[in-house]
Amino acid sequence: MRNIRSVEVAQPSQDAILRAAEHLRAGRLVAFPTETVYGIGADATNGRAVAAIYEAKGRPTFNPLIATVGDLAAAEAIAELGPLARRLAAVFWPGPLTMVLRAKPESAISSLVTAGLDTVAVRMPSHPIALTLMRAVGLPVAAPSANRSGHVSATTAEHVASDLGEKVAMILDGGPATVGVESTILDVSDDRPVLLRPGALTLEDLTRVIGETPQRPSSANAAAPNSPGQLESHYAPGAKVRLGVTAPDAGEALLAFGVAPRHDGPCLNLSPSGDLAEAAANLFAALRDLDPGPGGRIAVMPIPERGLGAAINDRLRRAAAPR
Ligand code: TXA
Ligand code: MG
Repeated sequence: MRNIRSVEVAQPSQDAILRAAEHLRAGRLVAFPTETVYGIGADATNGRAVAAIYEAKGRPTFNPLIATVGDLAAAEAIAELGPLARRLAAVFWPGPLTMVLRAKPESAISSLVTAGLDTVAVRMPSHPIALTLMRAVGLPVAAPSANRSGHVSATTAEHVASDLGEKVAMILDGGPATVGVESTILDVSDDRPVLLRPGALTLEDLTRVIGETPQRPSSANAAAPNSPGQLESHYAPGAKVRLGVTAPDAGEALLAFGVAPRHDGPCLNLSPSGDLAEAAANLFAALRDLDPGPGGRIAVMPIPERGLGAAINDRLRRAAAPR
């Protein structure tokens, strides 16, 4: 066990996971690793605990949270799974697919989790610490990414401690997140599946199982509160971000991918060999490390749109969006 800024950061022994579960049942917040990014969790049936998450992150309460579960029965207790949702769950759960489903009105989930919507986003992570924790708690856990609202997501326990250290009872340290970008969010609450957020599960893999490419939300919807997380500016470092750059200016920090041009300023390479999985795993840490802060500029090299590239480019576009 070690402490970063006075919060307990525990290696995830069985004992530590049980203590974390006890914190959650008592209404306290716990940060834990998932295969995508770190999450900050609270008992989803406890309105006060859920309110503490919004407060800790500085997150607007119209932006709903994901309910994280440890098994299919727990998902079915809070949401209606139609035939497509069942098929996707059978193939991809546990794993980095979040499904937006019709909420069961009689479930014990706090309406703060869903921000009053009649749908609920449900995720079953594959990370063994997350999964063991969910099963030990035996309650749905509201768990957004463990970063300050609008900031870059956390992929290590140190990132969590620096963003939210004073706000959580405990951080389970599972080392760096393996995938590095958040789960893919698919709305299957209606007839046609809609891709709300490209993520760790690639569109290619999803399309193979669905049998067609999921729709994207219409732009009219994109700004509306029914796809609330899709706020334009997000994942933002302090610096300004410029995309698709092959010739960086002298004053810029360079976020490279593949073979980088000569550059005298600060430079980090997401993957010198051009590997998209490696680039995704390095993305958020690189944005944090490279960030020269307000007034500075980050130039990002082009990244292909295939596979995990779609999720990487989505996060980079939001990082570059006007604030
Ligand atoms: O990989 C992940 O999904 C991570 C890890 C920690 O599990 N979690 C995560 O949570 O990324 P968060 O809160 O940062 O992003 C969840 C997104 C938000 O954009 C939110 O608006 C959207 O899910 N969301 C939640 N409930 C929704 C709903 N009922 N309808 C539409 N979007 C919803
Ligand atoms: Mg987030």
